[in-house]
Amino acid sequence: MVKLSSRIPLPYSFKVIELFRNPKNLGKMDDATVWALAGSIACGDMIAMYLKIDEETQSILKASFESYGCAANIAAASILTEMVRGKTLEEAWRISWRDVSDALGGLPKVKYHCGILAVGSLRRAIRAYFQDKLKPKWLPENLTAEERHALEEEELAERFSRKS
Ligand code: FES
Repeated sequence: MVKLSSRIPLPYSFKVIELFRNPKNLGKMDDATVWALAGSIACGDMIAMYLKIDEETQSILKASFESYGCAANIAAASILTEMVRGKTLEEAWRISWRDVSDALGGLPKVKYHCGILAVGSLRRAIRAYFQDKLKPKWLPENLTAEERHALEEEELAERFSRKS
């Protein structure tokens, strides 16, 4: 008898599989300058992004993450933490989820939101860093689409409670 599976394997790239199996910069950062917890409005999964910032140069010394998401999110967050290291906050801010997807060799369409969540959490962390500081010109006044997708925990809980 042929056993049918209800799950169709997603066409993940080699890079996604590799980083899912061996993610880089995974874990809480105890000496982080700033961090943000954000959840996806598409799936409810959450991610925490930690940044260690050189205050003088406003550049990212290191980044790490914790993910409660899927393979694509783990891979996206992993590669993003590598991409931002050594970059100024402005350069890091300008990294798009498509840049992340390209660096991963492409994400399946149904997994775009997992990359958006990773970028959204980074932007939320950068925005949090400037909360009590003079805001730079490049930081938009309003939340970007990625930030609106990656909601703070309370907002996410409220959105999902309204749905149920
Ligand atoms: Fe939720 Fe990928 S399905 S982060």
